[in-house]
Amino acid sequence: MSFPKGFLWGGATAANQLEGAWNEDGKGVSISDISTGGSAKQSKRFTPVFEEGTYYPSHVAIDHYHRYKEDIKLFAEMGFKVYRFSINWTRIYPTGFEDEPNEKGLAFYDDLIDECNKYNIEPLITLCHYEIPFEIVKKYKGFASRETIDLFMKYATTVFERYKGKVKYWLTFNEINNGTNPVGGPLALGVLGDTENASEFIHPVNDDPEVRFQALHHTFVASALAVIIGHQIDPNFKIGCMQIMATSYALTPDPKDQILNQQHNHIMNWFCSDVQCRGAYPRYMNRYFKEHNINIKMLPGDTEILRDGHVDFYTCSYYMSFCQTTHDNREEVAGNMMGGTANPYLKASDWGWQIDPIGLRYALNEIYDRYQMPIMVVENGLGAYDEKGEDGMVHDTYRIDYLRQHIEQMKEAVEDGVDLIGYTSWGCIDLVSASTGEYAKRYGYIYVNKFDDGSGDFSRERKESFYWYKKVIETNGEDL
Ligand code: BG6
Repeated sequence: MSFPKGFLWGGATAANQLEGAWNEDGKGVSISDISTGGSAKQSKRFTPVFEEGTYYPSHVAIDHYHRYKEDIKLFAEMGFKVYRFSINWTRIYPTGFEDEPNEKGLAFYDDLIDECNKYNIEPLITLCHYEIPFEIVKKYKGFASRETIDLFMKYATTVFERYKGKVKYWLTFNEINNGTNPVGGPLALGVLGDTENASEFIHPVNDDPEVRFQALHHTFVASALAVIIGHQIDPNFKIGCMQIMATSYALTPDPKDQILNQQHNHIMNWFCSDVQCRGAYPRYMNRYFKEHNINIKMLPGDTEILRDGHVDFYTCSYYMSFCQTTHDNREEVAGNMMGGTANPYLKASDWGWQIDPIGLRYALNEIYDRYQMPIMVVENGLGAYDEKGEDGMVHDTYRIDYLRQHIEQMKEAVEDGVDLIGYTSWGCIDLVSASTGEYAKRYGYIYVNKFDDGSGDFSRERKESFYWYKKVIETNGEDL
């Protein structure tokens, strides 16, 4: 069994991590624009007031705003069938509160989409990838306030209307289940805290679970409304959810570990997608909310909105897996805006993320058993320190190995009967890391000459993996 004909091969990025031009052509400040650089050892910070001399990587990122034609051409050379990117909400509504959209921002995405379509690359657009307007964060604590649903819908409706006929695939919120997690939640939901009185927030930010879960409820409603209205605007739209999937295993056969793992999976891996794919809150959340003293305010009509606004397809990022245990002898490992117990059978990346290709096959089966919906893996990849070889090229055989093993396991999942329709590996071009705010953590097939000390001319170079991925796409995943 091979990948199906028409399988969507491509790559993924996010506006705040590659565009730069943070205040050009009318763009406003987003939550990511107030985030400083950091590293694996030094947490990044959010500063509600810009600090003189402090480095904010999203402000220049990899300057894609001015170089998108060159970048899309390189993606086309690899044979991309799909390109996942996000629209930067603050290019369209700079503060989030304007009545009229910013034409220059809309025009930029017109050009970007046209450029993709020119090469028959299907755009796959994320509406919100950690890019909530900072004015909404300040006034409303992001999605903690119900008002933000309307602001989001104004933005979503504007871009749906503008790009209908040119774009088919949309995702509402990037890694929405980050909202269940105190580390990633505040960034995903815009719930930073008291921005008037605090000069900085260290990532992860102080957390109030009730506020966070309320904000998550508002994003569910916003996502469901976007699905409903998107379908009215263009019945051909396919609108999906986007989850962090980090496969989770019980560390031991101790039944207590199994239950702990099941509970972890309920909250982290299934709660949000159950709401978005099945259109209702799952029953296990009642107990969780009760035991954690969390009261969610729902308005009449929310249940119907969630029911009618279930998504058309499921997507996720997949980088790693974790274990869960009730036993003391555990070793903690880092992960994608979260952590967990180490798995003794796995190796980890330079950032400590455990590499588990088989866990991807396992996850894809679990997801498909649960929802029977088409699935795309819209992020996967290896963040690594790349060095140029003597011939001046990056020979990223470690990245090729990582990707090959994951694609092999996707193939197994297809053979298992999973309806997998696409794969967009993360950071198809080097960009700024979301968790650490650094350039040094590279994912791309394309090397970008830009460095954390501020040096670099942004020039692009093909890595060895560029040629490898081109061959993978050419052969529809046969020649790995
Ligand atoms: C996902 C995000 O969490 O993982 C991306 O959707 C992010 O924005 C990617 O870049 C990889 O994480 P990091 O921290 O290595 O950039």
